[in-house]
Amino acid sequence: MTVERVALAVLPTPLQPMDRLGEQLGLPPGRLWVKRDDLTGLALGGNKARKLEYSVAEALAAGADTLVTGGAAQSNHVRMTAAAAARLGLSCVAVLTGTEPSTWEGNLLLSEMLGVQVRWAGSVDYAGLNAAITEAADIARQDGSRPYVLPVGGASLAGDLGYVTAAVELRRQLPDLALVVTADASGGTHAGLVAGLGDHRLVLGVDTGNRPDLLDAVPRMAADAARAAGLPTPTGSARLDREQIGGGYSQPTPAGRHALDLAARTEGLLLEPVYTAKAMASLLAHATRGRLPEGPVVFLHTGGYPELFIGHYNRWLRTAPAADRDHPPAVAAPSTEPTATW
Ligand SMILES: Cc1ncc(COP(=O)(O)O)c(C=O)c1O
Repeated sequence: MTVERVALAVLPTPLQPMDRLGEQLGLPPGRLWVKRDDLTGLALGGNKARKLEYSVAEALAAGADTLVTGGAAQSNHVRMTAAAAARLGLSCVAVLTGTEPSTWEGNLLLSEMLGVQVRWAGSVDYAGLNAAITEAADIARQDGSRPYVLPVGGASLAGDLGYVTAAVELRRQLPDLALVVTADASGGTHAGLVAGLGDHRLVLGVDTGNRPDLLDAVPRMAADAARAAGLPTPTGSARLDREQIGGGYSQPTPAGRHALDLAARTEGLLLEPVYTAKAMASLLAHATRGRLPEGPVVFLHTGGYPELFIGHYNRWLRTAPAADRDHPPAVAAPSTEPTATW
């Protein structure tokens, strides 16, 4: 496969200490860090920018003039694919689940501003949405376009290579890193990091409830990404925390809410309910149980800010208990043990 890359992201992203958050957790300065992939640029940033650098390069190499992809109406991936298309003078078609809402907000509004052509797929599952994306590409082809398909959420081997490069960048910034904590949906970010770092034990993926087969998928994708990048097969076995899913994908959790408040009020760091708050909740749970490894621990901030501005989450974001508003909450202590152990 091609490993060409087109520059779309602002790189390297900063690595910043989180000593005030660490202090709340009884950790010494220099133990907790945040890798700011929310600052990758490309229409408000996020992990998809690094993935798009490789998948869009593949599209250009194939002579495509139209990117065809899809996801949920609030897909961060669709927003950033639309931005990449605009930057490169390509068209972008997005197939979205559900029907057109009465109000276009958050990622959906931004995708429209970026010029995406939206098709509504109705109530379809993951496989049904990928089929609808393929169908949209066929229609574009019949209309004389040269489409390139990015599957749901941009999950592809080419995309995973973006996080192989990110791992190399991170290792350069923090050579003795002991653990990276990241939110998992497709698991591509997790897999790419593992491939780049060479060891599953250095990455804790936090399952956000997007796909049920992560524990099988991540090692497979990591091995494929390592092979494609010319690196050895990663050692160890995959680490996954499945205790933060709560009611399911995109359903906010109380532990996520505590994590969101704590990060905001100790570090001025914004998280959102779907991915990063759940990942931070996992990090906090591991820290309070003394389950973090010795050495520097990095929280990968994968972005997702537009979700903060949709009405759906507004009430949840505004209804913290009054005591929590006045005083940052103590670290949440979920009743169950995380599945990952150290
Ligand atoms: C903000 C954010 N964080 C994390 C993820 C998870 O990334 P991956 O699909 O590579 O597991 C996504 C994917 O949708 C995302 O939008």
